[in-house]
Amino acid sequence: VKIGIIGAGNMGGGLGRHWAGKGHEIMFAAGNPADAEAAAKAAGSTAQSGTTAEAAAFGDAVLLAVPWTSVEEAVKDAGSLDGKVLINCSMPLAPDYMSLLVGHTSSGAEEVQKLAGGARVVLAFNTAPAQVIATSPFEGDGVSVFYCGDDAEAKGVARGLIEDAGFNPVDAGALQNARLLEPMTELLIQLAFVQGMGANVAYQLLHRPAE
Ligand SMILES: NC(=O)c1ccc[n+]([C@@H]2O[C@H](COP(=O)([O-])OP(=O)(O)OC[C@H]3O[C@@H](n4cnc5c(N)ncnc54)[C@H](OP(=O)(O)O)[C@@H]3O)[C@@H](O)[C@H]2O)c1
Repeated sequence: VKIGIIGAGNMGGGLGRHWAGKGHEIMFAAGNPADAEAAAKAAGSTAQSGTTAEAAAFGDAVLLAVPWTSVEEAVKDAGSLDGKVLINCSMPLAPDYMSLLVGHTSSGAEEVQKLAGGARVVLAFNTAPAQVIATSPFEGDGVSVFYCGDDAEAKGVARGLIEDAGFNPVDAGALQNARLLEPMTELLIQLAFVQGMGANVAYQLLHRPAE
């Protein structure tokens, strides 16, 4: 898959490295072009850097991984995202990270869908801390990554990219379920930084067929 990554920080940089390692072609964009260039260098020979508009045009799938305060500008700079699989992990966190700015009646992912009209938005990776993405440190059955969206084909692309990043995908339904998945990120933040568990915390969904 050709993947444009808007936001080459902890999330975008880490996921881009996994995807490049699986042979996907990557183009990184960041606020500072030097940061996008550094992420491309770290990801290897299938990765390059460009402007936000170039990364958006390049990708069949586009990852949006910018701070919430930059989401509107980044989507505007991207230009047309019509038809693109737009995987969002950007979270509507309050400046102190201790609460969500959107919830119950909307979600960050639904707000991104409003900004990026023709894109096929999928929320994914928001429940996986960057530290976990960077190092895959868990033994055994692996880490669950929940995803939700309204377009079946776009969700299929996201599912493949979740697997290629080393995680177990869990289909969490329609995009509106972002209202449920985004608070799970806030719970992780509370566990990690208020309860003192540290940033290597992750979800694993257990499931067996009903009897
Ligand atoms: N870190 C986590 O564990 C985690 C987990 C789940 C969800 N998230 C969410 O994922 C998003 C990214 O988090 P992160 O930790 O990766 O942040 P980060 O390390 O600060 O990286 C943010 C990236 O976005 C770029 N950026 C900022 N404004 C931009 C703009 N207007 N246009 C294009 N690129 C822009 C930055 O570029 P410059 O630095 O060059 O300006 C940087 O490369 C956030 O919304 C966060 O809430 C993070």
